[in-house]
Amino acid sequence: MKDKKTFKPCDLIIFGALGDLSRRKLLISLYRLENANLIEPDTHIIGVDRHTHTSAEFVEIAHKSLQEFLNDKLDDTVWKRFSARLSYLKIDLTQMAEYQQLHTVLDTENRVTVNYFAVAPFLFSNICQGLAQSGVLTEESRMVMEKPIGHDLKSSQVINDEVAKVFSEKQVFRIDHYLGKETVLNLLALRFANSIFTTNWNHNTIDHIQITVGEDIGIEGRWEYFDKTGQLRDMLQNHLLQILTFIAMEPPVNLEAKSIHAEKIKVLEALRPITLANVDEKTVRGQYTAGYMKGKAVPGYLEEDGANTESTTESFVALRVDIDNWRWAGVPFYLRTGKRVTSKRTEIVIYFKQLPHNIFKDSFRELPPNKLIIHLQPNEGVEVEILNKIPGIDEHIKIQKTKLDLSFSEAFKKSRIFGGYEKLVLEAMRGNPTLFLSREEIEQAWTWVDSIQDAWRHSGDDPKSYPAGTWGPVASIALIARDGRAWEE
Ligand code: BG6
Repeated sequence: MKDKKTFKPCDLIIFGALGDLSRRKLLISLYRLENANLIEPDTHIIGVDRHTHTSAEFVEIAHKSLQEFLNDKLDDTVWKRFSARLSYLKIDLTQMAEYQQLHTVLDTENRVTVNYFAVAPFLFSNICQGLAQSGVLTEESRMVMEKPIGHDLKSSQVINDEVAKVFSEKQVFRIDHYLGKETVLNLLALRFANSIFTTNWNHNTIDHIQITVGEDIGIEGRWEYFDKTGQLRDMLQNHLLQILTFIAMEPPVNLEAKSIHAEKIKVLEALRPITLANVDEKTVRGQYTAGYMKGKAVPGYLEEDGANTESTTESFVALRVDIDNWRWAGVPFYLRTGKRVTSKRTEIVIYFKQLPHNIFKDSFRELPPNKLIIHLQPNEGVEVEILNKIPGIDEHIKIQKTKLDLSFSEAFKKSRIFGGYEKLVLEAMRGNPTLFLSREEIEQAWTWVDSIQDAWRHSGDDPKSYPAGTWGPVASIALIARDGRAWEE
């Protein structure tokens, strides 16, 4: 309650209000925030798109989107409150004069303008110019954009340069929706609020770390976009590297955006480059073929709707990543992510070192390592795998693996777990930049990923195939097995 009074209401403009992102994610998240009473009473939501609609028609479109994508029953009272905030403007984003219409709906004296760019990046420059020329921007205005912010370092610089002509860095909110996930944020708490972990979080006690982001879905009608992008750029450049920076960074001075960004950048700078010289040993690219998902036959990547049957784009990638700094010297990070793998599963597994001497040979020839398993989705939670004595009065002590299991839905029964978008849209409206990406971070991530992409291009190898419904090509198992380790299954 105390917090609520301190935030100024907004004019939230959604550019691309009729598009997929707006209909599937933004309107749904905003409705949920309304339901949780988290939107300032005087906040307005202005949909902007190129089709002719009245505000009443836009309200109808929003209603349909909620019925289609909300997964919950619409509450009449909440909907009434929410729909009263909505209005619509038809603007052709390439026509500068049309932005003048914004003056009729914005109140820059009493509300902060938040410009959400939910359109393809080639329109960003037009919107920036349109906003600047129409004179609606103030120092308080913000802009929100999300991936893809370019497809490599150069193209991301072009986008960021265009935006920078109009918005200063502190006005720019770059979204990676993984940073809105409760469990990703919990990494900060886990690491920096628990001495049991802080003191052990380094090469002395940790053997290696695995990050898995598996998706059971395929390309879902996005073949054209995905084929130009591939899993490395669609998932690893952003979501997996973000998770990695949260696991690997040094303790920030505080929770301010500046401190957190600074520590994350240091991790990205310390990533050992993957180049043509080591790309074969450090990376595996895969592409799914037809297979079975939960018993149902599904087509291969090249048989999806709209597919170019010659495509060599990867739908799976596995990497061994080394971080060249004091804390992580000699501790490999194994990352893997793929579409149409066995199940939707995002998790981090920290493998602690094995003990040097085993006095429990009756139970284990070699003592298994302790593991900290952080489940990001589904079923958010944290598990610690330890060895425990089996109760009994046997002559020899027998031990077995046991799990200390903290399931979030059990432990925090009363708290509502907010979705990534809800959290980030709210933070953008509140003007809190902590969970957003800085330009430097994105550019550093691209620099590292570009080198892998270049190496693949030069090596000319096609991706290895894997049947849909499996955990990627056999080569991915070999990648980690070469180091005497195995993926967590
Ligand atoms: C998006 C990718 O950023 O993340 C999609 O473009 C992917 O390809 C999605 O499916 C995964 O998000 P989540 O939250 O379902 O893990």
